[in-house]
Amino acid sequence: MPTLFDPVQAGDLQLANRIVMAPLTRNRSPNAIPRPITATYYAQRATAGLLITEATAISHQGQGYADVPGLYGTEQLDGWKRVTEAVHQAGGKIVTQLWHVGRVSHTDLQPDHGAPVAPSAIAAKTKTVLIKDGVPTFTETSMPRALDAAEIPGIVHDYAAAARNAVQTAGFDGVEIHAANGYLIDQFLKDGANQRTDDYGGSIENRARFLLEVTRAVVDAIGGGKVGIRLSPVTPANDIVDSHPQPLFDYVVRQLAPLGLAYVHIIEGATGGPRELEDRPFDYDALKTAYRAAGGQAAWMVNNGYDQPLAETAVQEGDDLVAFGRPFIANPDLVRRLREGAPWNALDKATLYGGGEKGYTDYPTLA
Ligand SMILES: Cc1cc2nc3c(=O)[nH]c(=O)nc-3n(C[C@H](O)[C@H](O)[C@H](O)COP(=O)(O)O)c2cc1C
Repeated sequence: MPTLFDPVQAGDLQLANRIVMAPLTRNRSPNAIPRPITATYYAQRATAGLLITEATAISHQGQGYADVPGLYGTEQLDGWKRVTEAVHQAGGKIVTQLWHVGRVSHTDLQPDHGAPVAPSAIAAKTKTVLIKDGVPTFTETSMPRALDAAEIPGIVHDYAAAARNAVQTAGFDGVEIHAANGYLIDQFLKDGANQRTDDYGGSIENRARFLLEVTRAVVDAIGGGKVGIRLSPVTPANDIVDSHPQPLFDYVVRQLAPLGLAYVHIIEGATGGPRELEDRPFDYDALKTAYRAAGGQAAWMVNNGYDQPLAETAVQEGDDLVAFGRPFIANPDLVRRLREGAPWNALDKATLYGGGEKGYTDYPTLA
């Protein structure tokens, strides 16, 4: 029976173990450029089988928070190159998370201070972070405008270009498409945010169209074996909801099955919250069965609230990879701690977003 510490193949990615660092936004990249300290942060965690970077904007329009990094400018890619080199030198593997926030943004962060874009002109009841007078400040998101169908191919192109930049210029081992947590792709998927009446709204097939166009374009750009995708069927994060998530996501994974992806990454329950939601029941085994029955061979990655026993059980019962988020912020040597059954450092919530090395690169490792 496999353990967390056994190697595994995920598409083109040969991983030393089944322990993954989940994507974690840290708001420490002014002007969207990763700084040298970010290379230190990721290299410290390179014993994970796979590192997934914090969500990284594919375009200026895809930005939704202050000081998050991008993949669309030369200096941004140079900054990331420093990161991938440091991780590879430390023996790790790293993919970057491709992000377009859609409506979860603010006019202050958008090109020409325009409205954020979304499938429909429905505001998200959620907050973003702006920096005001040097201080990170939670601020209501702005009213979005509905995308014209003619604009959609340009955004699909931005995803593919960012994937190409990530692999060919910045040296990433692959990319993860961020289709979770109420951002643009999730907004298209779910009927709480998508009320379009064209080919991108209404039926499940129509609402999944944008996700599938993006995924196929990214696969065409860099090859399916370097592409993962993150889905969150029932999370309420960023004010997102769907009336019938099971058939929606069963359809999505069946369509993903033939694309030869490296991995499928599922957030079970509310991101960072309960793993089961009374008002949003969901059968994750049925989802995986639907994917495998359609011929999908990607590694199956699970996340949300995993501790050591839960993670060990998941791998024994057939999940291929377990992603840890908050534990990896506080424990750069999480892999060793899991191996030795050592206690975990506590998370300092005050230093999650913004700032410098405090709460970023200064968490202690085991002696
Ligand atoms: C500080 C912080 C930043 C996060 N940033 C991202 C992100 O950029 N992309 C994403 O998909 N999820 C993000 N998440 C969600 C985590 O990837 C993960 O799903 C969540 O923390 C639950 O996993 P855990 O219980 O192992 O922490 C973030 C969570 C935290 C706490």
